[in-house]
Amino acid sequence: MGIREFKKRLRFLANGEDSLPGYKADGFRVMNKNIEFMTETKFAAAWKFAEAGNREAWAKRKRVPDVRWRAHTCCFAAQRALKLEGDFVEFGVNAGLLSMTVCEYLDFGALDRKFWLFDTFAGIPDGEMTAREAARAKQRNAGIYFDVFDIANRNFSKFDNAILVKGFLPNTLEGVPIEKIAYLSIDLNVARYEKECIDRVWDKVVPGAAIVLDDYAFIGCEEQNAMWNKFAAVHGQSILTLPTGQGLMIKQ
Ligand SMILES: C[S@@+](CC[C@H](N)C(=O)[O-])C[C@H]1O[C@@H](n2cnc3c(N)ncnc32)[C@H](O)[C@@H]1O
Repeated sequence: MGIREFKKRLRFLANGEDSLPGYKADGFRVMNKNIEFMTETKFAAAWKFAEAGNREAWAKRKRVPDVRWRAHTCCFAAQRALKLEGDFVEFGVNAGLLSMTVCEYLDFGALDRKFWLFDTFAGIPDGEMTAREAARAKQRNAGIYFDVFDIANRNFSKFDNAILVKGFLPNTLEGVPIEKIAYLSIDLNVARYEKECIDRVWDKVVPGAAIVLDDYAFIGCEEQNAMWNKFAAVHGQSILTLPTGQGLMIKQ
């Protein structure tokens, strides 16, 4: 260790971790890591675009959450999808924070693919779920969600090949002409809805495609965690737990 590094460590011990480069948001913190991806021009511009488009949708919470690392995971998954055949799909879009980042990052409008964006665009619907999920849904519906369809429509308007599919999942999958899926983001906050959706589309997900499970490792989302672990075991898959709380499954 050189003298400069030694002094840095001393400063670290004296002042606390904040003297080390890092990131603290979204319920986790990393220290002393290279996080240059956050300021990389293309990603930073894509996030800025998505963050600006989501301000009204997050008005109840006063600010758009800093989920840049989660968005980075989605961009990684979406980028590798370009080497595969198939469309892009998101179950649970709200006003499109993650998917707007992906669209802008990939200049999606220039691609010969579709991005199917499924949501009620008005919050988590009533249905069969555990009491805990129902309580959380009630809380989120009151504290975050409202009818954002017009906002979402505007947010994706420059991408002609991004299609909003409004209504109750999995019913809205009926009749939508998706043949192959190369990128899948699942963020419905209810295990049963997610299970019903993945059961319907699993055979369409091409081998090698990345599936991002937004709520997989969050405390309070144990129903989804258990459901996905069972699903992975039944289908011979594995899931990478990320410090963001996401799960990442690459279809084998
Ligand atoms: C956490 S939000 C999605 C956030 C989004 N991925 C983003 O990037 O901002 C969860 C969304 O799932 C939707 N949702 C939950 N269950 C649904 C269902 N059964 N059918 C349609 N939409 C549903 C809600 O309306 C809500 O917008």
